[in-house]
Amino acid sequence: MKIAILASGGNSPGMNNIIVGLVKAANEHKIESWLIYDGYDGILQNKFFKADLRYLEEFITRGNVIIGSSRSKTFYDIEVKKKAVKALKQKKIDVLIVLGGDGSYNGAAQLAKLGMKVMCLPGTIDNDIASTNTTIGFFTCLNTIVSHIDALRDSFESHSGICFVEVMGRGHSDLAVRSGIATCAEAIITNKNILTTQDFIDIANQTWKNGKRSCIFVITEQIYGKNNLPPLAQIANSVEEATGRTTRINVVGHAQRGGVVAAIDRYWAIVMARHCIECIVAKKFNKAIGEVNRKVSDIDIQVAVNLPKKPESFILVKQFEEMNKN
Ligand code: F6P
Repeated sequence: MKIAILASGGNSPGMNNIIVGLVKAANEHKIESWLIYDGYDGILQNKFFKADLRYLEEFITRGNVIIGSSRSKTFYDIEVKKKAVKALKQKKIDVLIVLGGDGSYNGAAQLAKLGMKVMCLPGTIDNDIASTNTTIGFFTCLNTIVSHIDALRDSFESHSGICFVEVMGRGHSDLAVRSGIATCAEAIITNKNILTTQDFIDIANQTWKNGKRSCIFVITEQIYGKNNLPPLAQIANSVEEATGRTTRINVVGHAQRGGVVAAIDRYWAIVMARHCIECIVAKKFNKAIGEVNRKVSDIDIQVAVNLPKKPESFILVKQFEEMNKN
């Protein structure tokens, strides 16, 4: 049997670990492992390489994805997908394994409808895949954000200032909620918890009344500046004017997708990868692998991509805000 592994969408720290786990487990079952470089595009660009486990193992600490990834625009086209299935079959690939997030899962689900056997593993920092509690890369990213905010706290405390910290998540708020709570931010802004300029001014003023020397707002990206909400820069200016305190915006940015892979991501990467190969050996195909209630899980890919969106932790944010008033 032959498997081929590709990564799609934004890279996520821990993708290398998933690949290592897959190749190791495949070797154990005498399954031949191939790597497809640069995402779905790599299929039609003929970027197939035989996996070399010793080489791959060199990268288990690194947040890159050694086989590259891409957000393929051409792959939305059904004809391109048909060609991809044909190419995979010509290469005698029995199962295509896709590492990625929501969009990558959708691509894989469509390939499955076209007759390709697929398996999906959750590689995204956003933690927005409904079929799993944990996505690989989320915890590494969370650590990166927390260290970043800790450092910002040092600067803004020294200058009695206010900082709006924008974190990634593609509209999903888990990174903002958990990093905000972990760093005792003064407020956490999500799609379900949108604050007005006046709210920010009030919280900032209260922060100094409570004897603190800095104010950090953690904000999920892609909220302000659309849906009739003012841009963050405008809000920050108004807050600075009203409070008289230095107010800055800090975008954590793409460093969130890199760095040394956290232990918990490495652990789940290997456990999920092993389960994926066990499913293949048991002829259970077209599955989305994940973690539910701290146990490795698998559900049908068509079911996975049709699940309702993962809910936001709104109640948690509200409870945290109450605690913060002290
Ligand atoms: O999905 C991962 C992610 O990092 C999101 O959090 C973010 O919105 C997006 O990718 C950024 O994409 P790009 O790297 O194309 O700017």
